[in-house]
Amino acid sequence: MSAQPVPPVPSSAVPQDAVAAIPERNVVDQAPKGEVVLKITDLCVRFPSDEGPVNAVQDLTYEARLGRTLAIVGESGSGKSVSSMAVLGLHNPKRSSITGSILLDGTEIVGADEATLRKLRSNTAAMIFQDPLSALHPFYKVGNQIAEAYLAHNSVSKDVARKRAVEMLELVGIPNPQRRAKQFPHEFSGGMRQRAMIALGLVNNPKLLIADEPTTALDVTVQAQILDLVKSLQREFGSAVILITHDLGVVAEVSDDILVMYAGRAVERGLAKDVLARPQHPYTHALLQSLPSASEDSDQLQTIKGTPPSLVNLPSGCSFHPRCTARDRVPGDACATALPDLRVSSPGRQIRCHLANPEQVLAQEGAS
Ligand SMILES: Nc1ncnc2c1ncn2[C@@H]1O[C@H](COP(=O)(O)OP(=O)(O)OP(=O)(O)O)[C@@H](O)[C@H]1O
Ligand SMILES: [Mg+2]
Repeated sequence: MSAQPVPPVPSSAVPQDAVAAIPERNVVDQAPKGEVVLKITDLCVRFPSDEGPVNAVQDLTYEARLGRTLAIVGESGSGKSVSSMAVLGLHNPKRSSITGSILLDGTEIVGADEATLRKLRSNTAAMIFQDPLSALHPFYKVGNQIAEAYLAHNSVSKDVARKRAVEMLELVGIPNPQRRAKQFPHEFSGGMRQRAMIALGLVNNPKLLIADEPTTALDVTVQAQILDLVKSLQREFGSAVILITHDLGVVAEVSDDILVMYAGRAVERGLAKDVLARPQHPYTHALLQSLPSASEDSDQLQTIKGTPPSLVNLPSGCSFHPRCTARDRVPGDACATALPDLRVSSPGRQIRCHLANPEQVLAQEGAS
């Protein structure tokens, strides 16, 4: 039940170039613009297990805004998928305990009944997963699945819904959409299935699209195409996008905002460009140090020593302290005894860390 000890080495890494590619924002213009479509406050998700409750997500607070892409990053098992699935009410209430608040377009999701959730799914928020085959039904034609999703939320004829499905396949760049609509998922290539799932996710023009590792299973060229597609569709639909990824190169390319999670908690939040250029949490700093380009003068990639903690028995104090190389810069034993709050550390930035001057300390660490 504990988190998997997967080294946090991303699949591609172009942080410096990509950081530079993100347009400069006015320094005064720190507060993100765009209507808040998702507001999560103090979210906790626990699962029962033989060893005790698994604290998959704790005290999570963040928001997603129309027209902006929020990247959620963190090692395997840090609670990225569990927190996002909670947004669509996808956890079995009998097998989980969820507290806090998830306001999706003004409707409370925590404790909502199935009818309310069904109405919001696809219409207000949609999710695309890493593995499209698990989301697309293998026995139904792709076009029919998209048409059904449209029919579920719109009073139109089957003919209109079928036409809409073909339009969506065309919109996501599938050649011969008329013919493809009549095929089954297994007749599509991996990249095309991912496109079809994006079409399925967007057919009802949702205000929020959650993409959970949408490109991990694809080769690099197709990854880039899918990300371009998500970006251009976001421009067209003006929706909020939450992008869950291990890949900090991807974050740099497409995200406005970033939320870094460690062991179920948010440890750093801010504008993606700022956080990637000047991380303030030692964990974010370590993730960036593990990128190939950040350690180009060394033959070996730097990895974060140790493994993520068990979510059943979290360490006392800061969950990251057993692996933190900056903990001796905090006076006393605070890192091992007191859980830091998520605090505003500079304009537009929040960190969960006891370090008084994190950027200075981490800059010295990076140089040493
Ligand atoms: N239904 C469940 N019952 C018990 N534990 C669960 C359940 N779902 C998830 N977990 C645990 O919750 C933790 C967080 O899982 P989650 O899937 O959110 O991780 P993640 O950050 O998405 O990781 P990855 O990058 O590998 O996808 C993990 O330790 C996982 O084992
Ligand atoms: Mg996941």
